[in-house]
Amino acid sequence: MAEVIIVENKEAAGALVAAEIVALIDGRPDAVLGLATGSTPLPVYEALRPLVADRDVSQVRGFALDEYVGIDPAHPESYRSVITREVVEPLGLDPQRIHVPNGAEETIPHAGEDYEQAIAAAGGVDLQILGIGTDGHIGFNEPGSSFASRTRVKTLTEQTRIDNARFFDSIDDVPMHCITQGLGTILAARHLVLLAFGESKAAAVAAAVEGPLSASLPGSAIQLHPHATVVVDEAAASQLAQADYYRYTFANKPAWQGI
Ligand code: GLP
Repeated sequence: MAEVIIVENKEAAGALVAAEIVALIDGRPDAVLGLATGSTPLPVYEALRPLVADRDVSQVRGFALDEYVGIDPAHPESYRSVITREVVEPLGLDPQRIHVPNGAEETIPHAGEDYEQAIAAAGGVDLQILGIGTDGHIGFNEPGSSFASRTRVKTLTEQTRIDNARFFDSIDDVPMHCITQGLGTILAARHLVLLAFGESKAAAVAAAVEGPLSASLPGSAIQLHPHATVVVDEAAASQLAQADYYRYTFANKPAWQGI
């Protein structure tokens, strides 16, 4: 099962995960990071800034989870723009080494396969950062996604479009389709780190960590991974049946193990 770490707040989560990422980069300067968008990973990227300021991160590579189909890459809410603004520029990464699925309609029939090949050519993802949607989606793998799925086009649910409407002028502007790494793609990363904060994520977190494996709850796929870490605040942990055990386990964890 996943290791669950319950932290006091987002800042503590960001510090914990950022420390793991710099340890990875220190050991492997061309580490391959799996980058997530959404508000959840922001504390990680913020905590990374001072840590990478005195490190050489020019070799670090990255793959974003997903992108909207048909959105202008220059649109401020394209995931290409979001990754550039929130990760590449503040951390000083090489934009040439940071990949985002190509949502252009002209090339969409083979964009999934192209992305899979690029990940494979990079040797796979070392550490994949994940958020989770209120309906349990990871990346943009909506309920019903195959655990074996690879990067492909999906239709966003009404709920996801409602959730993401806050980034657009209106819900009508939220694209209908996306291209996302599949659950099988995500499971191939060597370490999964799923973060969640707030009461609105509590049910999805409990179902992902403790519920039965189900394509209806795509986040439950993390239970199949040999090294998955779930970092949550108290509110997001509030529906976990084994919360006390997770606290006990982490409090007694040998320091050498990392996360
Ligand atoms: C979007 C992204 C997901 C993200 C989810 C949750 O749907 N494609 O990768 O996990 O939003 O977003 P937030 O972290 O803002 O709650």
